Amino acid sequence: MADSPDPILLQLKTGAGRRVLGGHPWVFSNELLVVPKADVMAPGAQIELRDSRGRFVGRGYGHPNTLITARILSRRETQPLDADWLERRLRKALELREVTCAGRSAFRWVHAEGDGLPGLIIDRFDSAEGGRSVVIQVNTAGFEGMRSLVEDVLRERFDVTRGIWKSSGRGRQLEGLPDHVAVGWGEPSPTWTVDDEGAPVTFDPLTGQKTGLFLDMWLNRRRFAPSLAQGRVADLFSYVGQWGLAAARAGATEVVCVDRSRDALDLAGLNFAASGLQDRLETVRADVGDWLESQPDRSFDAVICDPPAFIQGRKHVANGLRAYRALFALALRKVRPGGHAVLASCSGLLFEDAFGDVVSEAARKAGRMVTVLMRGEQAPCHPVPVQVTESRYLKCWLVSVG
Ligand SMILES: C[S@@+](CC[C@H](N)C(=O)[O-])C[C@H]1O[C@@H](n2cnc3c(N)ncnc32)[C@H](O)[C@@H]1O
Repeated sequence: MADSPDPILLQLKTGAGRRVLGGHPWVFSNELLVVPKADVMAPGAQIELRDSRGRFVGRGYGHPNTLITARILSRRETQPLDADWLERRLRKALELREVTCAGRSAFRWVHAEGDGLPGLIIDRFDSAEGGRSVVIQVNTAGFEGMRSLVEDVLRERFDVTRGIWKSSGRGRQLEGLPDHVAVGWGEPSPTWTVDDEGAPVTFDPLTGQKTGLFLDMWLNRRRFAPSLAQGRVADLFSYVGQWGLAAARAGATEVVCVDRSRDALDLAGLNFAASGLQDRLETVRADVGDWLESQPDRSFDAVICDPPAFIQGRKHVANGLRAYRALFALALRKVRPGGHAVLASCSGLLFEDAFGDVVSEAARKAGRMVTVLMRGEQAPCHPVPVQVTESRYLKCWLVSVG
């Protein structure tokens, strides 16, 4: 964007734009006097936003065809969106992680709006040998147009030795962008191994889910593991087995990891073996709902239930709530009296209060007394500006089940 032509001027309607004027980076089409067509404002073009009286608000990028017409990247009028600007943003994000994620070698370096970089996610994985690897997810046309800037800054100013582009999903479809999943630079080894809370964890950044690992859960695992430290544990929707592994490392003697992905379960096997805990692991490739229904006589000291997002958009809320309720009820029935459960939802549209209602209805349906012991959320490498409540998505509760 450093060499881009003059920015397209966008102006707020009188009385409109309360959100963006209050610090939120999004500008909706109905807040603008005019939304330029694609021949004037190409998807991702640099924009300058002015208020209804013509005063500078911020600069960023636009899209002629999406509900969110512009996203603000800087509020400084004289600030070009160049390599120095991006380096400063990345450095600031890193400094935050050095405190909130001290000692971690895998963390989310850039959490889009949470770090003032809407449209960009960067997950970072450092190896014991000193290599720095990243998986980058670009969700908007604006950052798609800045891919070479992102790569140059990461390689030249942060010595990132390996990069993978992992840009796919619904956000890109809305922007009219095809998926882009490819090795960017550096040695293209199929699996990467990082230290996760003292245990080596191997994953596949290219063909695995999301950016390869779910980096939003590490603090919840750290806090809840002592309550999962005995007897039999079921890790439902286990992916590569990190919850189950945390339980086994804390002392659980049998762990069943259930997931529908064979590849993920194979990696779970590898990860337990790397900690010398392969004898405690059973993997089951199955639909979790079917598996729970097929095990009427089995009970566990702890059950972890971390499903994919059931609510992907507003029209899915009612069905999603029903699905969470039914699943959590099934999971709670599998916990022995006095045992524990971890119940999670990564649906951003399911707010914490409604999540609490779902847990309480599931408890009633299961006929169990459920008591909340700890409430968790996304790890601090996923920061949430108070203006941007959309950045907050994860609920993760540790409960006891009577
Ligand atoms: C949110 S991720 C779980 C992340 C994991 N618990 C962790 O902490 O890394 C969801 C997982 O559920 C699996 N999955 C999705 N739907 C499933 C289903 N109906 N039955 C079994 N597994 C499913 C996916 O393969 C994926 O590994």
